[in-house]
Amino acid sequence: MSRDEGSSAERWDKRYRAAAEAPFGEAPNVYLKTICARPDFAAETALSLADGDGRNGAWLAERGLAVTAVDVSAVATERAKAFDRRRGVTVARITADLADWSPEPGQSWDAVFVIYLQGTTALRLRALKVAAAALTPGGWLVVEGFSKAQAGRPDIGPNDPDRLYALEELRAAVPDLAVIEAWAGRLDLDEGPRHRGEAEIVRFTARRPV
Ligand SMILES: C[S@@+](CC[C@H](N)C(=O)[O-])C[C@H]1O[C@@H](n2cnc3c(N)ncnc32)[C@H](O)[C@@H]1O
Repeated sequence: MSRDEGSSAERWDKRYRAAAEAPFGEAPNVYLKTICARPDFAAETALSLADGDGRNGAWLAERGLAVTAVDVSAVATERAKAFDRRRGVTVARITADLADWSPEPGQSWDAVFVIYLQGTTALRLRALKVAAAALTPGGWLVVEGFSKAQAGRPDIGPNDPDRLYALEELRAAVPDLAVIEAWAGRLDLDEGPRHRGEAEIVRFTARRPV
């Protein structure tokens, strides 16, 4: 099967089923942790989009946040629920496709994390708009993903430019938010067997004005 065949759910279910260990590790994403450590980060509720098998959602819940997590893969979500149980936390986990998922009317969160959502531009832009609209005043949007400079390096992450991030695209997707950080560059990733090695990354954080 090529990397882009089949629906998102089928492809990701297959990957998670084939993975003996957590593909992206059990420790939270480094950038997510860095933002949570800021003295001005005081979120009490969080939404983690494309939360996968649970490392980020569970870690946020361990810190006392009330967490909702969404992922298209039912296999990943089941693994995430087992991970939550092992960690002694509760996360409201939803299996849904971000191509059409929206929060219930009136639902909002103090922080929304989008960590390595690797879909098409249309999917990623929709998810970012849903994320921005779901922020409480002062709420944080935090994104990390492979940048377009990663195209042609198929050893790690997507190869197709349509599935890779650009800072201009991120800024344009959330024009009502105040950008706190927009960084692109090369990092030595060490986040599980699938995200290990040098890669071109974007990191983007923005806040809804109060
Ligand atoms: C690279 S993994 C990252 C998982 C997690 N954020 C982490 O950092 O450990 C990408 C995740 O996006 C999910 N995903 C892909 N397409 C999706 C979609 N259309 N809707 C919701 N989740 C999706 C996959 O199931 C997978 O769990």
